[in-house]
Amino acid sequence: MNQPGDDPQRAEEAGSGYDRLADVRRAGLDQIAQAATVDELRAVEAELLGRSSSLAELQKGLGSLAPEARREAGRAVNEARVELAAALAEQRARLVEAERATQLRSERLDLTEVPYEPRRGHLHLVTQTRDELEDVFVGMGYTVAEGPEVETDWHNFQALNIPVAHPARSTQDTLFLAYGEPESVLIRTHTSPVQVRVMQTQAPPIYSIMPGRVYRKDTPDARHVPTFHQLEGLVIDRGISFADLAGTIEVFTKAYFGPDVTSRLRPAYFPFTEPSAEYEISCVICGGTGCRTCSGTGWIELGGCGMVHPNVLTMCGIDPEEWSGFAFGFGFDRLAQMRHAISDMRVLYDNDIRFVSQF
Ligand code: PHE
Repeated sequence: MNQPGDDPQRAEEAGSGYDRLADVRRAGLDQIAQAATVDELRAVEAELLGRSSSLAELQKGLGSLAPEARREAGRAVNEARVELAAALAEQRARLVEAERATQLRSERLDLTEVPYEPRRGHLHLVTQTRDELEDVFVGMGYTVAEGPEVETDWHNFQALNIPVAHPARSTQDTLFLAYGEPESVLIRTHTSPVQVRVMQTQAPPIYSIMPGRVYRKDTPDARHVPTFHQLEGLVIDRGISFADLAGTIEVFTKAYFGPDVTSRLRPAYFPFTEPSAEYEISCVICGGTGCRTCSGTGWIELGGCGMVHPNVLTMCGIDPEEWSGFAFGFGFDRLAQMRHAISDMRVLYDNDIRFVSQF
């Protein structure tokens, strides 16, 4: 009986085919190891295990082998397939990992070198204005003095020649504190009480400025806020005249606003100065020809001034026969508003960073 597997020639052919198996495996493992990308590996896989691969050929040839040889060759083919498949899986894992590492490296963000500078804050415009004015006056030989924001009625009014029930009190809407006798303690309505404190504690000659925060029971509008800032000036010496006052005001006006802006004094009334004047500057918007900001007058009122009233000197322990002097006070929020042509004063205190960072 002649079975196909018994055919010596076919067995010979088949035998030599299955001898190649070891080479197929070795060559396959080599190819797998040399695949450099997942894509290359996919091509190698098709070549090694696909339908027209050497293994598939050998698999197909099994049918022509004698049962004994077929079993053995079958096991060998299968082992080779399992081994190549395992090597492929291992290499794929390695390549996937490597490709992922490369991708991560290329997409890496170095957060230690943030490409922008952290933004720095700076002083508020009103603070800058105070510093600048202090520099101007310190340059003229003045000292800078401060006083409390919570004041007695005596310092804020009475020592300034404004007795209880004096009509001038109504021009400064006062916020009294519920402390001590009714209406005896308040948050200061102006910086003039610091004059009083300076005169009480220092012997003349006095050349001082007193910047600070003040409070009034005011409704906010484009040119008023209830909490604002004044700079008070006080000079007490021998032979001081109104001309010294006018000259001093013109000097700091030019220093702060530049050469194009001039000052003028208009007769006014304050209980603590005699004579008294209002301090005005030529309008920074229209240059003096008249516009909406200056109500068509060409001038903008910034503060008050005058020769220190003899009653005030006396109340503060200074002999008016020997000494004379002048005082002035103005809101420097308003000064900054004018220099920078800010239409509404309230934006100074809105704390909108888009606004305050411009200065
Ligand atoms: N204290 C006054 C005010 O707030 C201004 C002023 C100061 C006037 C000094 C004269 C002298 O209105």
